[in-house]
Amino acid sequence: MLGIFRRSLPPAVVLSLAPVILAAQGWQHVGVVQKVDKLPDGVELTCGKTKVRVTVFREGIFRVRVAPNGAFPKDFSWAVVETPEPPAIRVDDTKDEVRLTAGSVVARIRKSPLLIDFLRGTGDMLVADAPDKPMGWNGGQLRVWKRMPEEEGYYGLGDKAGPMNRRNRAFTLWNTDAFAWQESTDPLYKSIPFFIGLRKGLAYGIFFDNTWRGSFDFGKEDHDSYSFGAEGGEINYYFFAGPTPKKIVEDFTALVGRTKLPPLWTLGFQQSRYSYEPEARVYEIAKTFRDKKIPVDAIYLDIDYQDKNTPFTVDRQKFPTFEKMVTDLTAQGIHTVLITDLHIKKDPDHGYAPYDTGAKDDVFVKRADGTTYVGPVWPGDSVFPDFTLTRARDWWGGLYKNFSDLGVSGFWNDMNEPAIFLTITKTMPPDVRHRLDDGTALPHLAIHNVFGMQNVRATSDGLLKLRPNERPFVLTRAAYAGTQRYAATWTGDNVSTWNHLGMSTPMLLSMGISGYGMVGDDIGGFAGSPEPNLLTRWIEVGAFNPIYRDHTAKGTLDQEPWVHGAKHEAIRKRYIEERYRLLPYIYTSVEEMARTGIPLMRPLLLEYPQSPEFFDDDREYLFGPALFVSPVTAELQDTKVVQLPPGTWYNYWTGEKTSDRELIKMNPALDEVPVYARAGSIVPRQQVVQSTRETPTGPLELRVYPGGEDCKGSLYQDDGHSFNYEKGEFLRVNYSCQVATAGIKIVSAVEKDGYKPWWNAAEIIVYGLDKAPQSVRVGDAMIRDWHYDPVQHAAVFTINDAKNNWIAELIF
Ligand code: GLC
Repeated sequence: MLGIFRRSLPPAVVLSLAPVILAAQGWQHVGVVQKVDKLPDGVELTCGKTKVRVTVFREGIFRVRVAPNGAFPKDFSWAVVETPEPPAIRVDDTKDEVRLTAGSVVARIRKSPLLIDFLRGTGDMLVADAPDKPMGWNGGQLRVWKRMPEEEGYYGLGDKAGPMNRRNRAFTLWNTDAFAWQESTDPLYKSIPFFIGLRKGLAYGIFFDNTWRGSFDFGKEDHDSYSFGAEGGEINYYFFAGPTPKKIVEDFTALVGRTKLPPLWTLGFQQSRYSYEPEARVYEIAKTFRDKKIPVDAIYLDIDYQDKNTPFTVDRQKFPTFEKMVTDLTAQGIHTVLITDLHIKKDPDHGYAPYDTGAKDDVFVKRADGTTYVGPVWPGDSVFPDFTLTRARDWWGGLYKNFSDLGVSGFWNDMNEPAIFLTITKTMPPDVRHRLDDGTALPHLAIHNVFGMQNVRATSDGLLKLRPNERPFVLTRAAYAGTQRYAATWTGDNVSTWNHLGMSTPMLLSMGISGYGMVGDDIGGFAGSPEPNLLTRWIEVGAFNPIYRDHTAKGTLDQEPWVHGAKHEAIRKRYIEERYRLLPYIYTSVEEMARTGIPLMRPLLLEYPQSPEFFDDDREYLFGPALFVSPVTAELQDTKVVQLPPGTWYNYWTGEKTSDRELIKMNPALDEVPVYARAGSIVPRQQVVQSTRETPTGPLELRVYPGGEDCKGSLYQDDGHSFNYEKGEFLRVNYSCQVATAGIKIVSAVEKDGYKPWWNAAEIIVYGLDKAPQSVRVGDAMIRDWHYDPVQHAAVFTINDAKNNWIAELIF
């Protein structure tokens, strides 16, 4: 906005001129507060004909809404699922300001002009409106400016590329098909208008719940303020007081909904390509995995299984016994995932039921002139369900009946930005109207960013109706805040380069803190073909990402784990196996994510908000509560320096203990990924299986890493696919350990025993022991069968009946 002017002017002048320039551009700002009305949950402020509401939504969550002409539209959100539960509030109205206090947080509203600051009760400023730029609007556009302290960083905004800290950059929120995106590509596939502002020890969050084309500018235009706004809709944002980044993520995900507990198989290895065809090739892929004993849980069929790329059809030339193929894969423990894009081929009167029934039921998107909108996508001319209508979503959900009946496990809704070919905008024209249940309609500009979300909502709800006691698995490419309620996602069309492997981690981490934890990338890269070392490194890192799916484009070389010869295959297999060994830990962490919103893949700033030196670490992360991963994403990595987070850590592979804050210099061999376990954690593992359908043999393994202040771990297990856990059919065990001079005590406390697990016995491995204990006791009984491993500095013993509560002691 100020760009043209600022280039020729020194910053100080720009700052003072900012209001003048904005006014010259037609911006109007909220003015002086003339009247203050108390509401049960906050205040309504009148400034001329403008009204502003500042309310307390829940403990620690405030909400700001602005009605420039004084009339608030009907309160509606595609994202918000939580209802307000305002705590007790206090309003202090003085000549210059209104203070709205709820618990330990204060919204201070200055009156002339109206500016909103959020503070802690202690006086610490969290965030303040930019003093020279009160909230404003210009035609349909609207914007909020906030002061930008020098040391503050901004994290979130979903899948934006580049560094996790968004400071000094500006972003557009407009869901876009961004084939082969790069660091500077913007916008991308998803629009999640949520971020965390963070400086040492202070954190807050803002969710700007506006679905129009949005923009966030974190200091690109101006050094002293950042801003967010949209091209239409309402100024309507939520402020989260934290105090910690974790609490902010918990509160934001409670507001917009959390990832549902996924089926266990979706955490296994998944193999995809554009496209496996014909049927014989699918069998061959499945057989090769099984012959080579490389675990796999899913094979994806991309658009070519369909008749001329037409959703909900099967090409019978290429897949003559499609139904049998699905059954045969299932019998091998392999789930079939089918792509079913949202476009419906415009193919009237040829017996293509999705078109004919949709046309009859009048569910397709129309233009302003009332004609059905037609756009070219994979099947050629296509029409698009009006997913904003409940009856269109219900109709769409019903389309899954046939595939669902024959046992297809998961569905992939791609191209749902929505992507349209042969247009400069890559999407629907602005005169498209989307109908709402109440008989009104909204322009495409208002719905674009939630179109994909409503698409996967329809798929997920449809599958739930068809298979009420099976957890659906849907994969989406486009998203708005809250889409994690319906689908997992991936980062779209990446490229088979080292650079893309490196860009992946910060993107996945940013998605996680934006509420979207079930996320992965195309392992090996989509466009192009990875060189052998790159694919190996990618499969290594992917083992520590939430979704672990190898996928590649049409016309590229084969990209399955066994390509490139025995040496690479062996390394890749080892990491895929490690993924399966870790499944008890991963599933437990994913259950935590479903319950709390804290993602499986956690940036260090989430765990160490008091340590600014880790805020901008884009490369390393925690995988669940216990494991620190430092991926190798460079081709030539002579010396890698790993700065471990505070505390003591154990090398996950060797059991070796590190000293506090150790800087580890290493030369990671091709088969080596630095992974460390936090001292004070207990990690459950299992034996390798070829798929999650197979029951692991042998005992549950519990790796105990003593130390830390609060040494603990847990285990969550259930049947892995149904909703019976909601009725209490699950197992939850809490483990803890205490270190004293006399010995180490490990305690297992069963919190809930509603599910019978596959194991009876547990093998306990206690690391970090300089010498063998004198004896090992479980309850009152001394155990004779234990050993000390001097290489790993670990004591190993087995508890035969480990499902009940027990206490084990290593006595020194
Ligand atoms: C899009 C998707 C890609 C898929 C292809 C064909 O490019 O992003 O994953 O393979 O379409 O369906």
